[in-house]
Amino acid sequence: MDRLFVDLGNNSYDICFSDSFGSLPDELKKINAPKKLLIVTDSNVKGLYAGEVENLLRGVGYDCSVYAFPAGEQNKNMEAILGICGACIENGLDRKSMIIALGGGVAGDMAGFAAAIYMRGIRFVQIPTTLLSQSDSSVGGKTGVDLMGSKNILGAFHQPSLVYINVSTLKTLPEREFVSGMGEVIKHGIIRDAEFYRFLKENSDKVRSLDTEVLMEMAKRNCGIKAAVVECDEKENGLRAILNFGHTAGHAVESALGFELTHGECVGLGMEAAFYIAVKRGTADAETLRDVEAVLAEYGFALKAKLPPAEKIYSFMQKDKKKSEGKLKFVLPVRIGEVMQTSDVSEAEIFGAIEYISEQ
Ligand SMILES: NC(=O)c1ccc[n+]([C@@H]2O[C@H](COP(=O)([O-])OP(=O)(O)OC[C@H]3O[C@@H](n4cnc5c(N)ncnc54)[C@H](O)[C@@H]3O)[C@@H](O)[C@H]2O)c1
Repeated sequence: MDRLFVDLGNNSYDICFSDSFGSLPDELKKINAPKKLLIVTDSNVKGLYAGEVENLLRGVGYDCSVYAFPAGEQNKNMEAILGICGACIENGLDRKSMIIALGGGVAGDMAGFAAAIYMRGIRFVQIPTTLLSQSDSSVGGKTGVDLMGSKNILGAFHQPSLVYINVSTLKTLPEREFVSGMGEVIKHGIIRDAEFYRFLKENSDKVRSLDTEVLMEMAKRNCGIKAAVVECDEKENGLRAILNFGHTAGHAVESALGFELTHGECVGLGMEAAFYIAVKRGTADAETLRDVEAVLAEYGFALKAKLPPAEKIYSFMQKDKKKSEGKLKFVLPVRIGEVMQTSDVSEAEIFGAIEYISEQ
């Protein structure tokens, strides 16, 4: 079993990489999982994997049940959290019991948040099944829900006790969701690891054809980058903010379009926008922007989108919860593998970047 240790003192945990669920019982034993478990999943993943995981765990003696909420970002809300907490009560979960989050980032964020508040906090395990959740959201302990159109505005930091990644689950993932996940994967290379970026460039055929070995390697390197950043700055007081590269413009585009594009598609556009600003400032070179665009295109990203007027996108940026003392925070690229944080990007620069990613 390939594994990675996330070193967060008392909140440390392992990330396990596999191509099946077979080793899950052993891994649960290692973390002294209690007998009583609740698998929290969404209505799509329930039919795909919840039965297999439930049977596996029941087969080795766990008292395990399944609760599914309706799939989709539109259901990432407090009502769903109350549903999960209600299922915890109905199934008799106590302080020692554990929640297993099975699904994409929505399942992980919500099951994790329910685990953070149920009986003032119980342990949980992440079993991510989308590329986005396997490369990003399952690691780092950010949990939460949306409210009144503001993404992840309610939440808690609550680290999982284990992350178990079965890359084979990606075989049932719709193509568009896979491409969306690649947005965060490519982002990790750009912000921290030029060697990983090269790996993505050289292995695009194998990644896109879901070659198991390449997917495992990609998952490990991704989680390694995310874990290293989180280890330095668990609660986002500094370095962790570099993970928001592509997200200032990306989130605004996502909201302004009413979630018509996926999160990853918007992050792709947001990364181009950030690059464009840096190139115009002379702090990154145009050739690197072209290279990043070629990689994005290779992985199926549209480089331009039909966008609403720049004023509308700008007004959504102003609602960004990552603003600090009224100033928008941007992560700008310096070169592949290195970015910088700044809050001095002007309105004119932002409008220029929005125009750049707009389909004319
Ligand atoms: N906590 C964090 O640090 C963090 C980081 C990035 C993103 N996020 C959050 O993650 C969420 C997005 O995650 P996502 O893209 O995984 O979305 P998602 O959880 O909605 O999953 C996308 C779709 O794929 C389906 N699905 C999941 N696994 C599948 C599989 N193996 N086969 C077939 N279908 C499958 C789901 O049912 C859903 O319809 C957002 O809410 C975002 O805010 C959190």
